[in-house]
Amino acid sequence: MEWQEIDDLVDTTYAAFSEKHGSEQIATKQALRVIGYFLNRNRPENVLEVGAGLGTITSFANSINKRYSTYYALERNSWCQSQMRHQSFFQFIHLIDSFDKIPESTTFEFVIIDDLTSHSDIQKIVRCLCREFVIVIEGHRYPQRFALISYLGKLSIPFRYISIGKSKDSYKGACVILSNEASIYKKLNLYHSLLRVRLGLLYMKFREIRARIPIRKIFGLR
Ligand SMILES: C[S@@+](CC[C@H](N)C(=O)[O-])C[C@H]1O[C@@H](n2cnc3c(N)ncnc32)[C@H](O)[C@@H]1O
Repeated sequence: MEWQEIDDLVDTTYAAFSEKHGSEQIATKQALRVIGYFLNRNRPENVLEVGAGLGTITSFANSINKRYSTYYALERNSWCQSQMRHQSFFQFIHLIDSFDKIPESTTFEFVIIDDLTSHSDIQKIVRCLCREFVIVIEGHRYPQRFALISYLGKLSIPFRYISIGKSKDSYKGACVILSNEASIYKKLNLYHSLLRVRLGLLYMKFREIRARIPIRKIFGLR
């Protein structure tokens, strides 16, 4: 899929979901772009989405690719679950309300986190990661980010992380990517360049992006 197609999909998905009742906390367009980029490039087979809410990311991810072996969408709120049941992507996913519903043998190479997860949730997420993984956290979510970083470090799992986004105190327009993929550093550098170019264009196209959005940090942690 080309960048323009991903951008168009971001626009149509965001427009459709932002009109829904309860849409105040849906994923930002920027996070959708980041997720779209990695889903399109990496073509993961097994995806876990934590905090599926109304299904904005679920819908988007299942438009990018309809051939996941397993796509688990975790949502504990029954009203949100009922909203997802009416969506066309529903047939392609496993909607679950707790980590316990994930079969023991299932592991994920791509994890999307869009809510405040507790330390025990973080342990459960890490337990079902594939040997090579990409985790995208929607928003800054500093406590979770650092809990996840320190837990991976405690387990001596090597990884890199990249933080994208401008605002320090808001969850809007930011996300974090953690990965131990062998080629991730190259990908992140490429992604950085592409994103800057794309956001340059997007700035003209969408006024909500007010400035160049730099990659703040690239750390190689062990
Ligand atoms: C920010 S909203 C998600 C929005 C959604 N990604 C979207 O863009 O439409 C976060 C959701 O995560 C759910 N949630 C939070 N913690 C959870 C947990 N431990 N297990 C399952 N769902 C959880 C909440 O019920 C809430 O609906």
